Amino acid sequence: MSNKYLIANWKMQLSIGESRSLALELAERLASTRTDWSVAVCPSGPALSQVAESVRGSDLLLGAQNSFWEDRGAYTGEVSPANLKELGCSLCLVGHSERREYLGETDEMVGRKVAALLARNIMPVICVGETENERDDGRSEEVIVRQLTSALADADCRSSDGQRLIVVYEPIWMIGSGRTIELEDVTASAQLIRSTLNELCTAAAADRFCTVAYGGSVDAVNLSGFLSCPGIDGALVGGDSLTADNFMGLLEIASRS
Ligand code: 13P
Repeated sequence: MSNKYLIANWKMQLSIGESRSLALELAERLASTRTDWSVAVCPSGPALSQVAESVRGSDLLLGAQNSFWEDRGAYTGEVSPANLKELGCSLCLVGHSERREYLGETDEMVGRKVAALLARNIMPVICVGETENERDDGRSEEVIVRQLTSALADADCRSSDGQRLIVVYEPIWMIGSGRTIELEDVTASAQLIRSTLNELCTAAAADRFCTVAYGGSVDAVNLSGFLSCPGIDGALVGGDSLTADNFMGLLEIASRS
């Protein structure tokens, strides 16, 4: 599997039937697409088992949008990494800004989730990024470093036979907004994430096991620009991942980049 990742975050946008059909179509189209990219879909929790059936035997990876940190216990409404593993999830989003904002997910919770996912051999896709106010106050760097440091606080990522993880730079003011961001700013954040990973994991482990991606209003017009930023080797896509034509179009662009 390539270390470059195109990941669909379907959020809570599709019915279970729609998720199953879209996954089936993507899996079929992926089979006849030449690409060196790894491609994943993250359906909503209730759609996971049907999408797991749709992608079985294909190259399309299954991801979850959230996980709890314990494998079993009295945690009403939560989903365990063990269950995600049983379903065939290869990866799981952690610390998405929508969960931080609406569900009260803290830096500490993100750290526990990352460690639990790594323990189950599920690749964490850690989302970091600043709000518009934080950016205006010149606090973007501080926020990114704090979120990333907490996310890896409980993880052992210094080992030379470590597990892969993805860090997504998702500036919150770019999500679903259709706004533009300077590519120099994306590059600067990617480099900050890389240097922080070098410190937290050792440079050798970070180089080998960590992928840095961009997310926030990714579309067919701006994707190649984001992928041209040094240090960016992936994209996390919301709105433009909801139809097979749009998402496969993004994969075509990524594969040419
Ligand atoms: P959009 O691509 O719709 O801006 O969503 C980005 C996102 O939040 C992906 O996780």
